[in-house]
Amino acid sequence: MGSSPTFGIRTSGKNDLVRIGILTGGGDCPGLNAVIRAVARRSFDGGHEVIGVRDGWRGLVDGLTEPLGQREISGLLPRGGTILGTTRTNPYKVEGGVDRVLATFADVGLDALVAVGGEDTLGVAARLHAEHAFPVVGVPKTIDNDLAATDYTFGFDTAVSIATEAIDRLHTTAESHNRVMVVEVMGRHTGWIAVMSGIAGGADVILIPEQPLTVEDACAEIERRHARGKDFSIVVVSEGYELTYSSGESRLVAGEARATDQFGHMVLGGVGDALGKEIESRTGFETRVTVLGHVQRGGTPTARDRVLATRYGLKAASLVHERRFGRMAALQGDRIVDVSLAEATAELKTVPPDWYEVARAFFG
Ligand code: F6P
Repeated sequence: MGSSPTFGIRTSGKNDLVRIGILTGGGDCPGLNAVIRAVARRSFDGGHEVIGVRDGWRGLVDGLTEPLGQREISGLLPRGGTILGTTRTNPYKVEGGVDRVLATFADVGLDALVAVGGEDTLGVAARLHAEHAFPVVGVPKTIDNDLAATDYTFGFDTAVSIATEAIDRLHTTAESHNRVMVVEVMGRHTGWIAVMSGIAGGADVILIPEQPLTVEDACAEIERRHARGKDFSIVVVSEGYELTYSSGESRLVAGEARATDQFGHMVLGGVGDALGKEIESRTGFETRVTVLGHVQRGGTPTARDRVLATRYGLKAASLVHERRFGRMAALQGDRIVDVSLAEATAELKTVPPDWYEVARAFFG
């Protein structure tokens, strides 16, 4: 690539004006708009300008930006999705992508960027910061809750609430018909949504990628339950669970074409159906499957996610104002802290065994 621009906030201009860009990348998630609002509100209070970058990193690759004012950020707190749009564009996988990001950043006169995203979006931010001293701070977003260095990402609580409500509803129909109900939830390669919604909804078996219970053991739990007079069962399966057998064989059921995005992620989904067939043929119990899919990502954030997103947004704006780049807002205990983007994106946060033990105590 060509010579990199030198980044640094302008401090000699009128009122030390800082022009802050903000983008939302990856899968959308309830609470994104609440972050945008919080970053903008704190920045406006500091006399700074805020520029919305459209469609994640694609906006900086293709020069898609728009100013955000009080009018644009009004009414955002409860609104799902993202007013800025989002994509899974990876500038490192686009011809000249990184140079184009740096050029747009300079052309628009940005001094700093707030990147709101998960491991992929923030992974790009971390790399740009490491390789180009790019002035970026991160906000941890994902319904999957799989980002390291933070206890929770925003969006997760909403997804768990939606999945729990679905499990509650499936309980009554499962009981009426004496059926096994399999519920497939999202979460990619971690089972956070499955474990939390399964505990909250009283699931009888929960299958996650980190602790691959075998199909035979799952069926045995259902049969044990029937033996003690419970003729219906709720099975929650995380989309990234590999069908695992006592023979040692395992199989990841993924999207038909096994398509991958620009970050190399396979499109998941379909394990619920495969598992449902296995349960029905092995136990003889009538089984139905529900795939929650993108319902888990849609709609208004819970109160908890609105508050978390708001706190993250304020922290991110403060990090920019203090010029503490390469950092990410994070939740540790009940405190909002900052951690390095590199640390946050180094590895996935998986479900620890003790959380699965809580779930397992209620199997069968
Ligand atoms: O990362 C969030 C997530 O919803 C995952 O749980 C899921 O595997 C993936 O995104 C779905 O992606 P898409 O919206 O591209 O189908």
